[in-house]
Amino acid sequence: MNATPVHRLRRSALYLPASNARAIEKARGLPADVVILDLEDAVAPEAKDEAREAAVAALAQGGFAAGEVAVRANGLDTHWGEADLKALAQTDAHAVLVPKVSIPDDIARYDAALANAHSGMQLWAMIETCRAVANLDAIAQMAASTRLSLWVMGTNDLAKEMRAQLTPDRSVFLPILSLAVCAARAHGVTILDGVCNEFRDLDLFRAEAMQGARFGFDGKSLIHPAQIETCNKVFSPSVEDVAWARAVIAGFALPENRGKGAISVDGNMAELLHLEDARRTVAVAEIARNERSNG
Ligand code: COA
Ligand code: MG
Repeated sequence: MNATPVHRLRRSALYLPASNARAIEKARGLPADVVILDLEDAVAPEAKDEAREAAVAALAQGGFAAGEVAVRANGLDTHWGEADLKALAQTDAHAVLVPKVSIPDDIARYDAALANAHSGMQLWAMIETCRAVANLDAIAQMAASTRLSLWVMGTNDLAKEMRAQLTPDRSVFLPILSLAVCAARAHGVTILDGVCNEFRDLDLFRAEAMQGARFGFDGKSLIHPAQIETCNKVFSPSVEDVAWARAVIAGFALPENRGKGAISVDGNMAELLHLEDARRTVAVAEIARNERSNG
């Protein structure tokens, strides 16, 4: 919901295969807001056990610049899922990201598997199946009674299941993306956009990230370090956004505007509903600025 206080930024979430030691080492120093150590799609079946061990060891060693480190587990309906969840529940990961959630009961099963995890551990879920699209509201509603707090769109798996084509304008996915944002917002769930596979084409990436930002996503999932900087920029309020937000806040604070629902700011109408938005914009910009000065 709009009124949800902003505690941390999730503008950029970089995946890397937990089986890739070089990528883990590299990720420690990268300015992504979130790092996701992957045990699922990016890891071949024969490397699954080794990847799980590497992820647990990387978490124990720590040293990531990212504000949050998550691990994507294999599904509980696969050969590796149960062992993944069991191992991850004993770590200090900020979140376990679970794949191919389709119905509310899937969230309940993953939540139960994390019953003994540390109290702050969050459950994040991939939205990447056709069934999930039909159950968005019911899945998001599980946030009220479980650790569920964030969704990541899995557009590659969705395309595969739908037998749809991923085109640069993503026209096939637009209704799904906006319905997913609505369901997430309705239940206070953070939502990240899917990945852009063409990691060498930063112009295409920027256009896709801006499309996601316009849709209301909090951030975007990434596959390559080269995408981070652009992503952080696109999902941070611009100088103009912040100036407008400050003007709206100042306008509503004027004594003559007390008790008004709509006022005039720089020749535009601002309503009380914009005030909430403006406060959020300023809060996000301040966190981004503090991070820059700390990093
Ligand atoms: N995280 C951390 N470091 C990464 C990285 C990632 N996702 N992707 C690449 N790097 C590192 C490489 O190790 C390399 O480091 P080095 O030059 O210092 O040794 C550097 O960045 C440049 O990599 P580059 O040569 O451009 O890419 P690549 O050909 O090695 O790898 C991919 C390309 C797509 C295989 C790789 O980016 C990757 O594995 N991405 C994540 C895939 C994933 O997790 N998918 C699951 C979710 S969709
Ligand atoms: Mg997937």
